Amino acid sequence: MPAEAPVQIHNPASANVVVPFVDLKAQYASIKNEIDAAIARVIADTAFIMGREVRAFEEAFADYLGARFCIGVNSGTAALQLALMACGIGPGDEVIAPSFTFFATAEAISVLGAKPVFVDIDPVSYTIDAAQIEAAITPRTRAIIPVHLYGQAADLDPILAIAKRHKLRVIEDAAQAHGAEYKQKRVGALGDAGCFSFYPSKNLGAYGEAGAIVTNDEGLAQQLRLLRDHGSTSKYAHAIVGYNFRMEEIQAAVLNVKLPHLDGWNNLRREHAATYNDLLKDLGFALPREMDCARHVYHVYAIQTENRDDLQQRLTANGIQTGVHYPIPIHLQPAYLSLGYKPGDLPVTETLSQRVLSLPMFPELRADQQRRVADVIGKSASSWASLQSN
Ligand SMILES: Cc1ncc(COP(=O)(O)O)c(C=O)c1O
Repeated sequence: MPAEAPVQIHNPASANVVVPFVDLKAQYASIKNEIDAAIARVIADTAFIMGREVRAFEEAFADYLGARFCIGVNSGTAALQLALMACGIGPGDEVIAPSFTFFATAEAISVLGAKPVFVDIDPVSYTIDAAQIEAAITPRTRAIIPVHLYGQAADLDPILAIAKRHKLRVIEDAAQAHGAEYKQKRVGALGDAGCFSFYPSKNLGAYGEAGAIVTNDEGLAQQLRLLRDHGSTSKYAHAIVGYNFRMEEIQAAVLNVKLPHLDGWNNLRREHAATYNDLLKDLGFALPREMDCARHVYHVYAIQTENRDDLQQRLTANGIQTGVHYPIPIHLQPAYLSLGYKPGDLPVTETLSQRVLSLPMFPELRADQQRRVADVIGKSASSWASLQSN
């Protein structure tokens, strides 16, 4: 799978891009000196894997989230897989998750031989509908994975209460939610464990693949440390069978430079979301809604329209890159045919997958770029209205 797969960007004519979907070059330019020095330091040290940069990042990120432990790994997918494994999930077990998420959420369950059981989402927050979870629980259910989709926390309190009643683990998929809050607390360590991706385009992105798990559970943290490094307790001594999911020093060095900027960047994303809300408010689209319990960090700013594909083409023709997160719900993916889901099983998820369109969103987005996006959307809405009236 190509490296860009998690973010599907509509970009057939990249030479004419006026407003990119994300602009990592602009971010690099703003911190170039620090980044270059940090990477040069790692190279000069020739200590490339799990050294002092990784240890410093684990400490800083745990601190930032108010978690006791952070375990750095080499992707968000690895984080999910290890968290499930450390919770003892394996063949024959079922794990409840939304289908309206990136494929890795479910994939991590399947690679352990367990079965994903999909639950529909709430139509306003786009996160798992807690009211539908209990009906999906069977004697084989072991865990729930709420996904803090697009940067907004899932409604965790009812999920944690259900988990307690049924003795289930809760593993937060926080891959899109660095710094997002649920009831004034940063997400990640509110359940048993939380998984983050530092894919380059994330709110906190590395310069390659990276991820982390956070937890307040010391036993789980110990197990996670063993699992990420071949189960080894010391050099060439292996207590259990694990993986090579170790984090690289260069990635941790980049993340150490970026972490102090995260809150500022998230605030800028929130300002841009407010600007889009204002510019688009009278055009008849369903806009993102920040729930009362959540502080959204707008990893993705998605609007809904029944003319999604047409709008996307018009934006592309005007040099504006957009994305669709996600066009095919996981329960209807060819990879999951064997699970036996049919169209209509998760109606909210399926409708949204045909309607959502993610607009350019990154901290360095300029006011003139946002106006241009809104202008093309406004003209598109007028042309649909005049087609209807003819
Ligand atoms: C919700 C979600 N979960 C998991 C992942 C997997 O993270 P990674 O790409 O770092 O493996 C992603 C990444 O896009 C994601 O968005």
